[in-house]
Amino acid sequence: MTRADLDKRPAEVAAMFDAVADRYDLMNDLLSMGQVRLWRKHVQRILRARPGERVLDLAAGTGTSSVTFAASGADCVACDFSLGMLHAGSARLAIKDPQRNKTRGRVSFAAGDARRLPFRDGAFDAVTISFGLRNVHGARDGLAEMRRVTRPGGRLVVCEFSRITVPPLDMLYRRYLTGVLPAVARRAARNPEAYEYLAESINGWPAQRELADVIRAAGWSAVRWRDLTLGVVAIHVARNL
Ligand SMILES: C[S@@+](CC[C@H](N)C(=O)[O-])C[C@H]1O[C@@H](n2cnc3c(N)ncnc32)[C@H](O)[C@@H]1O
Repeated sequence: MTRADLDKRPAEVAAMFDAVADRYDLMNDLLSMGQVRLWRKHVQRILRARPGERVLDLAAGTGTSSVTFAASGADCVACDFSLGMLHAGSARLAIKDPQRNKTRGRVSFAAGDARRLPFRDGAFDAVTISFGLRNVHGARDGLAEMRRVTRPGGRLVVCEFSRITVPPLDMLYRRYLTGVLPAVARRAARNPEAYEYLAESINGWPAQRELADVIRAAGWSAVRWRDLTLGVVAIHVARNL
């Protein structure tokens, strides 16, 4: 069994993110060479949260994406089951977030498990999850639960690591994931095991078309996706019809 399988036990996943919370966003910038900021901008644009809308950012971690949805005018609930990640995010927002004036009061942090969300049916206009679905034990059940809390006609946006569509480049990328990334993490991260898990979980995750099938199987309609950075990341969108 790989570490990715082992650590998918929910309590272990939550504890792992608690342990990396204080440097989580810094490490993301480092290991993605800044690309993560670009990916988040795409998610913000594709979600197109409008003023007055209620958005659930699930597995929100420190709420870095949640802030961008609130900056578009929506009220955003950043929900995660790692209290460490939520605390790091809420502390940052309270102290020094440069967008604070735009987002003040429009991001709220909530503890909750993606497999049994503490929200009523149809509570949100849109639900989104960035780099989180891969970590949810039972992704399909999680997607069905996301649909439950989305109003009829509402939308889903999933941003997740995926497959590079050019095979030789994909091979090089897999080498980066299993060789370079853990080596950098060993030098820069306090919990390098978490980054070995990251590489393993990306390798074990379905490609674009297969993930679209899982989203459909969870009851979502009109599923489409868009590749970013040649497919390193894909954004899937769907509707609750
Ligand atoms: C890689 S982080 C992504 C955080 C954030 N969405 C981002 O874009 O930076 C994955 C997050 O998923 C959360 N997570 C994993 N399984 C979860 C579950 N079942 N319910 C709620 N959160 C979960 C973890 O606690 C962690 O904060």
